[in-house]
Amino acid sequence: MSSVLESIAAAGVVPVVAVDVVEHALPLADALLEGGLPVVEVTFRTRAAADVIRLLSKERPQLIVGAGTVLSPETVQTAVACGARFGVAPGLNPRVVRAASETGFPFIPGVATPSEIEQGLELGCSILKFFPAESIGGVKLLKAFAGPYKHTGVRFMPTGGVTAENLSDYLRLPIVAAAGGTWIAKTADMAEGKWGDILQRCKEATGLVQSIRGFSR
Ligand code: 3PG
Repeated sequence: MSSVLESIAAAGVVPVVAVDVVEHALPLADALLEGGLPVVEVTFRTRAAADVIRLLSKERPQLIVGAGTVLSPETVQTAVACGARFGVAPGLNPRVVRAASETGFPFIPGVATPSEIEQGLELGCSILKFFPAESIGGVKLLKAFAGPYKHTGVRFMPTGGVTAENLSDYLRLPIVAAAGGTWIAKTADMAEGKWGDILQRCKEATGLVQSIRGFSR
C-alpha cells in the first residue's frame, strides 16, 4: 500500500469538504491540524476546489491533501497538477482508476457491491470507499463483506451518513481503514467561520480513534 494510503489508515478519519471560498482553506487546514487530523479530501464539487488544493499543498505541506469526487481521467490530471496526494471517487470507473494508477496517484474508488469490490481488487486498489455507507447497509454490510474479502487485505473507507454518533461503530471493524464524511467541516460552518466548532469535532474524532485503536497503529 502507498505510504499516503497508510497515513490515511493511520489517521482513521478523513474529513470530506466542499470549500466554496478559497479564503476558507487555510483556517480549515489549521483547525484540522490543530485537532489532530492530518488529512483532508477536497471535493471537486465547487469552483474553488482546484485553487484550494493548490493553496493547501503549497502552504500546509504537513496536511495530506486529497481530491474527492474525481469522476474523470481529466480530473485525475487536474488533481495531480494541483498537488493532490490522493484521489477519491464515489464510484468505480475503471478509466479513472487506470488513469490514476498510470500517474502513480493513490486512488480510492467507491464500491457498494461484491462485484465492484472484485473489480477494485483486479485494478490493484487496496482501500475502497464504501459508499453511501449508511444507506447501503452500514456496519452490517461491511461485516458481511469481511467474510469473503478480508483475506485479500482490502480495507474500506465508509463514507455517506457517517457521523460523530456512529463513527465508533465503523472504527471498531478491522476491515475499516478510515471513515470519511462531511460532519467534521460542513460548508455552512466554514461560511460562518465556526473554526472552533470544527476544531472541537476533530478533537472528538481523533480521541475516538485513539481510544478504539490505541496508540499502536
Ligand atoms: C461523500 O462525498 O463522500 C459524501 O457525500 C459524504 O457524505 P456525508 O455528507 O453523509 O458525510
